[in-house]
Amino acid sequence: MARTSSLQNVSPIKYVSRSGSSRLMIESVSAEEIVKRTGSPVFAYSAEALSQRVKRFQEAFAPLHPQICYAVKACGNVHILRHLGAAGCWMDVVSGGELERTFLAGIPTERVVFAGVGKQEHEIRAALHGRHSLVWDALDGASKKMCAQRGPVHAFNVESEQELDVIATEAARLKVVARCHLRVNPDVDAKTHKYITTGTNRNKFGVSIDQAGRIFRAWRGKKWIRLCGLHTHIGSMIESPRPYVRCVQEVMKAVGHIERQGTRIESLDLGGGFGIDYSSGQSVALEEHAKALIPLLRERAEAGTRIAFEPGRWIVAEAGVLLVRVLYTKRTGRAHFAVVDAGMNALVRPALYGAFHFIWPARVQAGQGPRSLNEPEHVRGCMPQSVVGPICESGDFLALERMLPRLKRNDVLAVFHTGAYGMSMSNTYNDQPKPSEVLIRGKQIITIRTRDQVIDLMRGDLAASALM
Ligand SMILES: Cc1ncc(COP(=O)(O)O)c(C=O)c1O
Repeated sequence: MARTSSLQNVSPIKYVSRSGSSRLMIESVSAEEIVKRTGSPVFAYSAEALSQRVKRFQEAFAPLHPQICYAVKACGNVHILRHLGAAGCWMDVVSGGELERTFLAGIPTERVVFAGVGKQEHEIRAALHGRHSLVWDALDGASKKMCAQRGPVHAFNVESEQELDVIATEAARLKVVARCHLRVNPDVDAKTHKYITTGTNRNKFGVSIDQAGRIFRAWRGKKWIRLCGLHTHIGSMIESPRPYVRCVQEVMKAVGHIERQGTRIESLDLGGGFGIDYSSGQSVALEEHAKALIPLLRERAEAGTRIAFEPGRWIVAEAGVLLVRVLYTKRTGRAHFAVVDAGMNALVRPALYGAFHFIWPARVQAGQGPRSLNEPEHVRGCMPQSVVGPICESGDFLALERMLPRLKRNDVLAVFHTGAYGMSMSNTYNDQPKPSEVLIRGKQIITIRTRDQVIDLMRGDLAASALM
């Protein structure tokens, strides 16, 4: 089976050797230049890499005319959403907050699907009238003009019958028909980390395949609800096509059952979860997933069923790099540490899932450039060092005992494949401001999120004390 390979020579993120050293370039800008201009920590994304990923996804699933509903949770920066929207993506949101981000990005509401297991009434209302209700007052005039959205979202991906009741009540109040897809849980184990497995009957998501037929029967012909599609998502970081194949087989059984009862399934949304290659050989190539799924779905697609996917990680992970600065190096007992200016606050994946991210200095001597951006290295002159953050937890690490060139104070390190679930899962624990974000386009460094100031962390406290 073909594995993903790091196509370093064609990637917009790569090491380039010049006059005795090898430097990390993001498009035409060096990582060191980005830190010099913007400070650190900073998430840097390549616009070109984002566009390439969207195109590759579209091409892999082309026979299905796939609708890519990018999972905003992976990286929700408004400017990234705007870029992906322009590349042809629809958006998959799971909260009123993410919905507002798509409004701000100027994504037409009819290109947004609203998923999420705990939708609240005010979020459902915002999705039905497709208008800012949560952040409108805080917007300046120009933003208001740019994102004057109208009309309901394309569909709700509904997680329970009670939720259908609430959507129906709100839709009737607003006199808007709510298009709905029922999320079914096929009881398929995606064989991934237990925190990101979502498709077994022990998980909180969706309804069982057995319940789906009854729910479609009960909701047929309702005035304000149009239940006309199925949705599923079995997990994240899925490394084999097999669970997807089983999932689609189960979903197609439900489709047959529902259609025999007289409701046509117009939409099949098969979720996201496609894995990427964080370290060598973990994951099969997207094209392998496509090869396995296309034969199961081609006939439906040709008959006009909308086939949607919700990739998040696969689109953005490899397009982003977290750049950090070494504050101190030290040795305690037998262990060597590099303390950097961001840890589990900026990138929680290593602490939360034990996740691997390839790390390498932004500038190394010639001969120390890495062979790929996802393989543990065995380069001459390396020694085991742990890269740890400033947070007061022993779980605050980016890498443990990793072979790296000897690090020193003020070195810039690149933490690779951090475009997904990096910034979006970052937090301000220990009152550490969140990193800034930049989008690199050729030679341009475009700031797309300024660094939080310490005062930003205390605004809520100060506003409350003013009331006392
Ligand atoms: C419903 C749903 N769709 C899509 C995704 C995106 O998953 P991934 O980033 O692994 O593609 C998630 C992730 O949690 C999800 O819950």
